[in-house]
Amino acid sequence: MEKKQDEVVDYYDTIAATYDDSRFGNSYGRFIDAEERRVMDRLIDVNAEELRLDMACGTGRLTNYATHGLDASDEMMKPAKERHPSVVFTQASAADTGFPDGMFDVVYSFHLLMHLPEATVGEIFKEACRILKPGGRFIMDIPSKKRRQLFHHKQESWHGGTQMTVSEVAQMAAEASLTVNRTFGILMLPVHRMPERMRKPLLKFDAWLANGWLKQYSSYIVCELVKH
Ligand SMILES: C[S@@+](CC[C@H](N)C(=O)[O-])C[C@H]1O[C@@H](n2cnc3c(N)ncnc32)[C@H](O)[C@@H]1O
Repeated sequence: MEKKQDEVVDYYDTIAATYDDSRFGNSYGRFIDAEERRVMDRLIDVNAEELRLDMACGTGRLTNYATHGLDASDEMMKPAKERHPSVVFTQASAADTGFPDGMFDVVYSFHLLMHLPEATVGEIFKEACRILKPGGRFIMDIPSKKRRQLFHHKQESWHGGTQMTVSEVAQMAAEASLTVNRTFGILMLPVHRMPERMRKPLLKFDAWLANGWLKQYSSYIVCELVKH
């Protein structure tokens, strides 16, 4: 089930040309994209004079919040470079970025850690912390282990195979000198089972549900971690 890091990158190299359409071109993908943007709009002031890295930026879906983008796949970054001509892009591993210590105010990463073994996730937390300024923020998402346990989720491949609870994130964060500051839920309702026409009208309600007391039972948890 576990894939080696380079196999994950090979996979994304292969699907780069169809990634945007297949993942985010349908109403389910647009729903997730809209909820993630709602969170990012709360967390990031794009006008702030900061250096912000989109780590594993892929095709640049969320790179509008960044000054820098990094991905291990050159193929995935080709559309990102066209979409965001003012962003500085680097091809590198998230676990070994090559950036100097303390360079960034914010590092964020969406839909990356879920594909990697937990040991690599730990290395990436440490690398994010290394390249952040003191007081800088690492924003990351991960599938919710509590929800998966509730629904007896069976993982059949490495794709999206890593899940965590908020306390597990907090523990891994502490080992990397990061502290959990805020958490947000993404996607509470089983939107993929609902008729397409119902999805958009339910967006606000779902975001509200996913950020109430059941937050840990939403599909994904976004955590804002702060460097000590
Ligand atoms: C599911 S895509 C997510 C892209 C983008 N963040 C988004 O949310 O649309 C995962 C991305 O992670 C990149 N990736 C996988 N392993 C990586 C690693 N170890 N270091 C950097 N990028 C990696 C892949 O090349 C791919 O572009």
